[in-house]
Amino acid sequence: MIIFENQNDLQLYLQNEGINKKIGFIPTMGALHDGHISLIKESSKKCDLTICSIFINPTQFNNKEDLDKYPKTLEQDILLLKKNECDILYSPEKSDLYLAGEKVTKYNFKNLGDVLEGIYRPNHFNGVATIVEKLLNIVKADYAYFGLKDLQQTMIIKELVRLKKINTKIIGLATVREENGLAKSSRNKLLNLEGKKTASLIYKELLLISSSLQNNDIDSTLIKAKEKLIKNNISIEYLEIIEINSFKISRSINSSKKHAICIAAYVNGVRLIDNLIL
Ligand code: PAJ
Repeated sequence: MIIFENQNDLQLYLQNEGINKKIGFIPTMGALHDGHISLIKESSKKCDLTICSIFINPTQFNNKEDLDKYPKTLEQDILLLKKNECDILYSPEKSDLYLAGEKVTKYNFKNLGDVLEGIYRPNHFNGVATIVEKLLNIVKADYAYFGLKDLQQTMIIKELVRLKKINTKIIGLATVREENGLAKSSRNKLLNLEGKKTASLIYKELLLISSSLQNNDIDSTLIKAKEKLIKNNISIEYLEIIEINSFKISRSINSSKKHAICIAAYVNGVRLIDNLIL
């Protein structure tokens, strides 16, 4: 695996070695786990060159504490990437991607940016889209792989690529989970054993909501689910059912459209998100 810390070196390399090759790209913030690796594997299967980036993007964090405590495991990440046949790692410093004092780009993602994560993490998606636009323009991949674990983010990136006419196809891949159902996440490293056990109730509840919806209305189902989670020391930021393409909150299920249950919750002070596509 070749490691680049500088976008010019990476681009120079790709100008020579990337010709006539199908390029797959996986942007990450590191602390890699099986969820990230599933994206790498899919790219390796479909593409000639697989490029992963590791960059903890400061502009998408809402507070400094969250940024400071984000897990950093670069050495382990490099070993994991090598083991999984990633061809190239781009792991730059901030100065390689942002000019001094540079502000995030303000995008208009309409409703997609104004609900759920958009409400609770103001400016988060502007930060995500700013960095992903930069990265996609550097790598110029044929395919970029994103996880459906971050469903709203993946829909935002699809919209970004459409708005900015970026010539990369965005592929969304299924959420990888622990055996107990907990969605794999870099933030799980911040939970102790007890916290992980509590956090596993989140996905179990999403499954229960999904089956309860067959006989009950959305509002009463969600109220009951919230009560149960709160009793188990899980504090909920949002628990909603949305229509996937518009991300509008649903009050009833329209069988001709695709819906998902989306949740953001805190366990022991760690913010977790998850969803279940219905
Ligand atoms: P990060 O949280 O590192 O995630 C990188 C990619 O891995 C995202 O597309 C995310 O959806 C995917 N992913 C995370 N957990 C997953 C799981 N359990 N199963 C499947 N895929 C999973 O998301 C980001 O970084 C950043 O916002 C980024 C896009 C890199 C921009 O900074």
